[in-house]
Amino acid sequence: MILANDFQRQWADAGADVLAAVTEVGESGWYVLGKQVAGFEAALAQYWGLPHAVGVANGLDAIEMSLRALGCGPGDFVLTSPISAFATALAIIKLGATPVFADCAANGLVDLDDCREILSKRPEIHYFVPVHLYGHCLDITKLEALRDEFGVQIVEDCAQSIGTACGRVGQLAATSFYPTKNLGALGDGGAVLCRSDELAAKVRQLRDYGQSRKYVHDVAGYNSRLDELQAAVLLKTFLPRLAGWTKRRQAIAAAYRAGLSNPRITVPEAPADSVWHLFPVLVEGPKTEALAYFRAAGIGVAEHYPQALIEQPALGATFDRKGCERAKQFCRQQMSLPIHPYLTDEEVQKVIEVANSWRG
Ligand SMILES: Cc1ncc(COP(=O)(O)O)c(C=O)c1O
Repeated sequence: MILANDFQRQWADAGADVLAAVTEVGESGWYVLGKQVAGFEAALAQYWGLPHAVGVANGLDAIEMSLRALGCGPGDFVLTSPISAFATALAIIKLGATPVFADCAANGLVDLDDCREILSKRPEIHYFVPVHLYGHCLDITKLEALRDEFGVQIVEDCAQSIGTACGRVGQLAATSFYPTKNLGALGDGGAVLCRSDELAAKVRQLRDYGQSRKYVHDVAGYNSRLDELQAAVLLKTFLPRLAGWTKRRQAIAAAYRAGLSNPRITVPEAPADSVWHLFPVLVEGPKTEALAYFRAAGIGVAEHYPQALIEQPALGATFDRKGCERAKQFCRQQMSLPIHPYLTDEEVQKVIEVANSWRG
């Protein structure tokens, strides 16, 4: 089977380095918020080209705490992308705020022209969480224009697009180190990035029970700290590999784009600097049949995502599910081909052959 992600190959490559990092933490006798987290935060901030990175427990908390640091809470409205991991919408709901979904563009990312229309009609929307989906960075110039014209506070969801130009338009950027991510840990992890000293301090406070100094809790915060173990693995082992992994993802995407010729499979447009977290395609005809065909041929295809966020039951029975028709249709057709840095050239060719032989 050609897997969507192959962690055993990753371990074969990086396992010895991971064990060395784990040993270092064990020998240090310090497991929470110590020098590994501080070292990783410094390295990540430098990698991203921003002054502050704050390690947190996961990407969901990174979005939620970023919004909260900006003052978002009950009664607020938050514009966001219609297609994403549920965490994007969940972070908004958990704060007692209401997500407002713009529709998607032809490539599944949020349509920034639709965002403009919504923001111009609904002045009560003060927050915006755009998602840089699939490894594709949204149009930065358009994002900046929305920020400046409407004064909307932006938290960029960069969980899928580390290494692109994302994360510099918003007041804050959130990312995830969930194992499948381009920079994934050996478990959960996340980070918040920002320019502002004040916002970074707020997120640091929120992640650690809301304490401003030991045993002084000014706000009711979270327990959302990145572990020393995960930070050490990311710092010593995976962050140094990220540039090479990204290059490999880009080479695989280029091979797919050159090799796929099945008229029943559309490859949506992608920006040139995509880091290809996923390789989405749109299939004509019943998707269940396409998924079954690929899987029977040994290809680990997946869906990102089977439903638009607006269709999720957790939004509540009374949530208005009208609109986002393009996103709903996109999700009905979307399928992801395997794209991880440990795929061999032969496997990439096999995926192309299977895709081109599918008749629907
Ligand atoms: C776009 C997006 N946002 C947020 C998240 C949430 O990250 P986590 O799983 O670390 O909570 C993910 C990953 O699952 C994601 O893909």
